[in-house]
Amino acid sequence: GNRTFSMIKPHAVADNHIGGILKLMEEGGFRIVAMKKTQLSAQQAGKFYEVHSERPFYGELCEMMSAGPIVALILEKENAVADFRKLIGATDPAEAEPGTIRSIYAKSKGENAVHGSDSDENAAIESAFFFSGFERY
Ligand code: GTP
Ligand code: MG
Repeated sequence: GNRTFSMIKPHAVADNHIGGILKLMEEGGFRIVAMKKTQLSAQQAGKFYEVHSERPFYGELCEMMSAGPIVALILEKENAVADFRKLIGATDPAEAEPGTIRSIYAKSKGENAVHGSDSDENAAIESAFFFSGFERY
């Protein structure tokens, strides 16, 4: 697959890190296919993260993801899903490799700056959650 889906999380948007994060995405070889700044309701965040509904941090996650605007992105590169997860680093910034987006911009395991899809199938589902067909050119 050559596309993945990403979100810049509310704390990173609030702290004016959109530009810094986009720069690392582009320098990492990703082309921005689609991009929008919007805010999720708690219900929409709940739907987006439904796979985590049984996890103990689900409530906190939905609250955090709806606390302010996010930037949603479709990104293109060969081997996009795996390469993007490499670029962002581990979920917990304490375990993220130096130079990764999370090592630079994450504040905690929850407030970890960016989301990255975990499979081609989920990349397609998540992209369709935010973007209509004609926006996914
Ligand atoms: P995403 O790219 O956002 O999906 O992150 P991930 O794939 O590295 O992690 P995962 O899918 O397991 O978890 C989804 C999100 O839930 C993470 O990015 C965190 O924001 C949050 N999260 C995961 N584990 C914890 C945790 O132990 N505590 C808290 N507060 N949040 C967590
Ligand atoms: Mg995940």
